[in-house]
Amino acid sequence: MEPSVEQEVREILGLARQYLKAQVDLGVGWVPRKEGVQTGVADDLEAFHQSTLDCQQCRLAQGRRTVVFGSGNPNADILFVGEAPGAEEDRQGVPFVGAAGRLLTRMIESIGLKREAVYIANVIKCRPPGNRDPQRDEIEACEPYLIRQIEMIQPVVICTLGRFAAQTLLQTTESMGRLRGKVFSYRGIKLIPTYHPAALLRNEGWKRPTWEDLKLLRREYDGTQF
Ligand code: URA
Repeated sequence: MEPSVEQEVREILGLARQYLKAQVDLGVGWVPRKEGVQTGVADDLEAFHQSTLDCQQCRLAQGRRTVVFGSGNPNADILFVGEAPGAEEDRQGVPFVGAAGRLLTRMIESIGLKREAVYIANVIKCRPPGNRDPQRDEIEACEPYLIRQIEMIQPVVICTLGRFAAQTLLQTTESMGRLRGKVFSYRGIKLIPTYHPAALLRNEGWKRPTWEDLKLLRREYDGTQF
């Protein structure tokens, strides 16, 4: 009987695994993970960060203390994208450091990852006053920063947190209920939408579907690894 496509893929992956193991046994210390070797990403990202610190592209510049650019591993395979900084993030200049951030850290750890290994950013880099929803023109002004970050980091999976991030990157107005639980493609990168951790703090009922999304994220990520 002809082998199925799945069997063939498994066989190829098995051979690739054997080949890589043999390379390690021969003393090869590393292999580039992605297309092309990513040298200098940390420096480039930091230079980009510095160039944003005085941004005046929208009205949010007036009320902010800091531009909350993003944090984590510049070579991360997984990028989490939230909505906008809150009060604590604005004070510290780091995304997701308040109550929602502590939950996000636990979510990341629940699928066997470390927060330091991923990269975390927001659609909007400056705190909207009183934590109101970002407005359309603010998103439009800020989105190019996120796009550039994605181009620099080249993640293999993006996990969007909440409707603003999913709707912005997927250019849709679909509800979270319809977007979550699926794998989309953003410029060839897998994109998995899930609920925002702040929403989970308000609505216990969204924790289970979020856990399903996190497991999906882990499976999709594992599928990109040897
Ligand atoms: N909520 C977000 O969407 N981003 C943060 O950085 C903090 C809270």
